[in-house]
Amino acid sequence: MNDSFKVQGLAGKAQLEGVVSIEGAKNAALPLMAAALVMEGETKLTNVPDIADVHSMNKLLEGLGAYTTFKNHELSIRTAEANQTVLEREVAKRLRASVLLVGAVLARSRKVVLPHPGGCVLGSRPIDLFVDGFRKLGCIVTEDTDTYTFEAPNGIAGGELFFRVVSVTATETFMIAAVKAQATVTLKNCAMEPEVIALAEFLKKAGARITGAGTPTITIQPSHVEPPAEPFRVISDRIEAGSFLILGALVGKKIEVQNCDPDHLEALTETLKDMGVHVFIAQNSITILPADKLKPIDIRTHEYPGFPTDLQAPFTVLLTQADGESSVLETIFDGRLNYASELVRMGANVNVVNPHKAIIKGATSLKARNIDGPDIRAGLAFLLAAAVADGESIIGNAHLIDRGYERIEEKLKSLGLSIERVTT
Ligand code: EPU
Repeated sequence: MNDSFKVQGLAGKAQLEGVVSIEGAKNAALPLMAAALVMEGETKLTNVPDIADVHSMNKLLEGLGAYTTFKNHELSIRTAEANQTVLEREVAKRLRASVLLVGAVLARSRKVVLPHPGGCVLGSRPIDLFVDGFRKLGCIVTEDTDTYTFEAPNGIAGGELFFRVVSVTATETFMIAAVKAQATVTLKNCAMEPEVIALAEFLKKAGARITGAGTPTITIQPSHVEPPAEPFRVISDRIEAGSFLILGALVGKKIEVQNCDPDHLEALTETLKDMGVHVFIAQNSITILPADKLKPIDIRTHEYPGFPTDLQAPFTVLLTQADGESSVLETIFDGRLNYASELVRMGANVNVVNPHKAIIKGATSLKARNIDGPDIRAGLAFLLAAAVADGESIIGNAHLIDRGYERIEEKLKSLGLSIERVTT
């Protein structure tokens, strides 16, 4: 199945209007699902987004012997028989987040075997931090063509790790593993993303002794953990929320984004305000009205709380509509401006100076095109470009957008966009 989206563009008119409700965060749900494996019993999560990546993670958990049920955004994971140690190859290769399972399975079964984890094509995505880190914690890691085997015959040792690069999933993986280590683990130069804090909250509710999540240094003492009695609610998806805010700035008349956490979106909302967009922030919602005249701006992606790399592609579409010269500096991934050539074919003036930098001159009107998104976020960016363009576009590779966005066409349609899923 290779679905596409057929979008009738608005030719730059600010017409979309309404309320959109945000789901639970993909990148918060996936580590929680992995963390369930370090516990015996049934973990219950609520507000879990019904997206392809969650289904893939369920498949990996089931391949390890866990039982999962997933309905109405409620996920139950039972781990009593989760004693397998080999990650299902085909799934793990599709999902970079499969690496989150290394810590959990290693802690649980003292061994884990996985292929080089795949995921979005964002340039090179190494796993050296995982290999080096587990070696420092006394584990044996062997690499055989495309397969990694991690073993901890005497359990995971305590110790101190300094991450050479700030990494979200490395921080999360070692937090999960450290809960079952032989002694205290201190992690330095950690990611400070809200999803890291949410994972710590979950582990603490399960009995773990963790301090420092949300700061660069996290300390984890070995603890007895069991699934929290109360179901744990996945935090709201700041990237989905941000994508709709950008849509609002691009072609919105008035869009209210509900069930989001505005504190997690400050880098975006402050940037939008600086561009002249009207942003109204309430406790759990943000309302957006378009700028009278959209001003250009320079952005630089950064680890949280900086501007998120996952919003870089959608935001660049907005910059094509700003009046003057803007620039984008992508500091996290080296292949994350590849989508820009398609925007150029739509009529945008985007000059990719090097793999990390693009100069955008606007405003340019965009022409409809048939294009395939290369990854989740660039796929969403193409939907935004199609929405502002003149004419009918077909955006292929819907399955990549479905990895991260639940019922995207339904939500866009409810705001007034003419969009339909085409199944071929
Ligand atoms: N890195 C290394 N070595 C490693 C691991 C990472 O050098 O062993 C480098 C990466 O190459 C990159 C930098 O560290 O240059 C940061 O990458 P990070 O490890 O933080 O990325 P990730 O944990 O694989 C998560 C999200 C991504 C998001 C990034 C950055 C999840 C499941 N994924 O990935 O989300 O872009 O953090 O915020 O949490 C998406 O949702 O579409 C997505 C790609």
